[in-house]
Amino acid sequence: MDNANLVLKAIEARKSSYSPYSSFMVGSALLTKSGKVFCGCNIENAGFSPTNCAERTAFFKAVSEGERDFTAIAVAGWGKDEEPAQAFPCGVCRQVMREFCDPETFKVLVAKNDKGGYTEHTLNALLPHSFGPGNFF
Ligand code: THU
Repeated sequence: MDNANLVLKAIEARKSSYSPYSSFMVGSALLTKSGKVFCGCNIENAGFSPTNCAERTAFFKAVSEGERDFTAIAVAGWGKDEEPAQAFPCGVCRQVMREFCDPETFKVLVAKNDKGGYTEHTLNALLPHSFGPGNFF
């Protein structure tokens, strides 16, 4: 799966967003080293704090299916009735990525619009000087 198609999958996954409180719809598509794609969306909750971001939904789906090796994630997020615009992963999602991914090589593709345009970033660029599994003995 190439980057452009991964971004299109995130845009498609955004349609499943359950976001009645913020109306901010987010989709994600996580690529494993073996070539599988796990999609996710944000899932909100009346209690607010149980809300899960699209990125973490994809990670938790994948890890719960036995996957732990990832190469890239695409993210597409903008308001329900808004013009498509770029939104970067939140800090909590960056830390979840850090748990499973090499910060130097894992790519975060952030959709710029609903046509497939995106920018590409290493996890290290989004979460510099990070704390991760290597900090434990
Ligand atoms: N959201 C995501 O799904 N991913 C992010 O990285 C940022 C925020 C969701 C959470 C919430 O449902 C909505 O966007 C507004 O914060």
